[in-house]
Amino acid sequence: MKKRENVNIKQLLRKNIQKLEPYQVLSEVPAIKLDANENNWLAGCFQERLTEKIKSIPLHQYPDTNCWELRQKLAVANEIKEENVLTGVGSDQIIAWLVQAFIGPEDKVITMSPTFGMYGINTRMAGGKLIEIPLDEELQFQPEIFLKSILEEKPKLVFITNPNNPTGGVIEDHLLNKLLEEIPEDVVIVVDEAYYEFYGKTLANRIAEYQNLIVLRTLSKAYGLAGARVGYALASQVMIDAVSHVKPPYHMSSLDQAAGLVCLDMVSEVKESLVNTVKWRQYLETFFFQLNQQGKDTTLKVFPSYTNFILLKTVHAEGLIEKLKKNEISVRGYGKEGILANSLRVTIGTEAENRKLQQVIEAYYG
Ligand SMILES: Cc1ncc(COP(=O)(O)O)c(C=O)c1O
Repeated sequence: MKKRENVNIKQLLRKNIQKLEPYQVLSEVPAIKLDANENNWLAGCFQERLTEKIKSIPLHQYPDTNCWELRQKLAVANEIKEENVLTGVGSDQIIAWLVQAFIGPEDKVITMSPTFGMYGINTRMAGGKLIEIPLDEELQFQPEIFLKSILEEKPKLVFITNPNNPTGGVIEDHLLNKLLEEIPEDVVIVVDEAYYEFYGKTLANRIAEYQNLIVLRTLSKAYGLAGARVGYALASQVMIDAVSHVKPPYHMSSLDQAAGLVCLDMVSEVKESLVNTVKWRQYLETFFFQLNQQGKDTTLKVFPSYTNFILLKTVHAEGLIEKLKKNEISVRGYGKEGILANSLRVTIGTEAENRKLQQVIEAYYG
């Protein structure tokens, strides 16, 4: 029988998929993981209660297709009705559905740049046209250019990330509200609030007025549940019904749903970790700022953050990342090209992790 040992599978891929670089994440977990904006304060926090809960889950049955209990709990937490809540396997899945549902070849999607990479990856997979509106040199959002581009280009989808990743910055309320009012109704406005809990301001209270608005949230960041993959969206029922056209029947496992329920019950632990994260973010911001002030690195720039991470820019980015890596600490680097050249993004860790980070960085500067 003829064997197929030399098949060029790659050439069978759709053309736009062939060109796509797969999203890269760390394959080895270092001792101190500060590269993915997870919440290390909650490490191990849900295990015991989840183990207990799993005992009563009928694993031989398909999961609840409607994620009923989870949606109810999210609705209560957000003071909203269940029919306005859609759950997904991470907000990543909801981003993918939005693009699948609305974007075909040549349809346009507008985002800011730099921002979260999955909007662009999904758009390219769908064969859509991605239009990226650059942030200014200070990595601030440019509302006029953004709106002008929307009015001229007539995209079907717009992604607005607030607070933004990887910059940590936000769009002022009045500017965001102006955008909401001026973007035409035939454009789907996605406001990604993955870091909402660290910032506290939301557009979720506008979904009744704006049926073309969908707000994305996640339990991966403030809630410390990145491993279980629970994301959700808040939107009008017409929007949720539209997106649900591409939703598979059993998208979220019983285990994911159970983990989400356990996590949402641990309100005081989550709140405490939030307070700690913000406190340590301020501590580290001051530390980095002083490195500059004291002349240890006058090129070091600290971008104001409303999230659980800090973006830094310095000519020493590469050296710092290497030094941290040697000490088993991972942070996210952005290479030598583009607006994020020589930047690194550091997630706020636990007290011990932050102190170790500080110690290694101090040693680097000597
Ligand atoms: C802005 C933003 N949106 C969405 C996500 C994806 O989150 P999830 O874990 O819910 O898929 C991330 C993760 O880093 C993010 O930074």
